[in-house]
Amino acid sequence: MEIAQKHRPFIVAIDGPAGSGKTTTAKALARDLGFIYVDTGAMYRAVALFAMRRGVPITEQEAICALLPDVDIRLERIDGEQHTLLNGDNVEAHIRTQEMSKAASDISAIPCVREAMVDLQRKAARGAQGAVLEGRDIGTVVFPDSRCKVFLVADADTRALRRKLQLEENGIPSDLATIRREIEERDRNDAEREHSPLRKAKDAIEVETTNTTIDEQVSMILSLVKRRIDQFQKGIIE
Ligand code: DC
Repeated sequence: MEIAQKHRPFIVAIDGPAGSGKTTTAKALARDLGFIYVDTGAMYRAVALFAMRRGVPITEQEAICALLPDVDIRLERIDGEQHTLLNGDNVEAHIRTQEMSKAASDISAIPCVREAMVDLQRKAARGAQGAVLEGRDIGTVVFPDSRCKVFLVADADTRALRRKLQLEENGIPSDLATIRREIEERDRNDAEREHSPLRKAKDAIEVETTNTTIDEQVSMILSLVKRRIDQFQKGIIE
């Protein structure tokens, strides 16, 4: 989709808790609109992996901050899929485990880590005509002026089941009850932290996805985004 770029890219912010369907939705939107796709959670996962490999516990905030200058994270498209490169190594498979989900949630509460990642996320969208970013604080902190904000929600059972299927697709066997417990713990962690907690932006549109199929969810959000783009092109929104 061609968009007249007025000063800044058209950002679509997709926020929500774990397993709410952000990734599938954001990827489908980016593909359909010809926008770039940025998985911001992958960045926190990569920092957590780096800390683990260096043997630095996440509780040691100062030591974690001191690691950051050595961390180079890039998101690259390889065979049509986004892969996460950490200092040049493709770590995609290593960052998707439940262990790294928990570590990413913990490390994302550290202010210096958030600052560095937010900076990277803003740079990733710079220069693009449009970008779809998924995360927890895209609409509230990373791009508070984005023209289209969506906040996805779904009940914990549905989210746990989706996560289980996703893990199994990646060849990681898992137990539903354990995943449900971990998802709830992670949501609590992400929503109760002091800095940039998981929260719906005031101007975000909440979409409840418990009883919708992924196709329904994507097509509903796609028409919502296209409506905003249309309003933008007609000058109805800035
Ligand atoms: O989206 P995800 O499950 O891959 O994210 C992993 C963790 O990273 C998540 O539990 C919280 C953190 N995160 C964040 O704090 N802010 C973001 N914008 C994205 C992820």
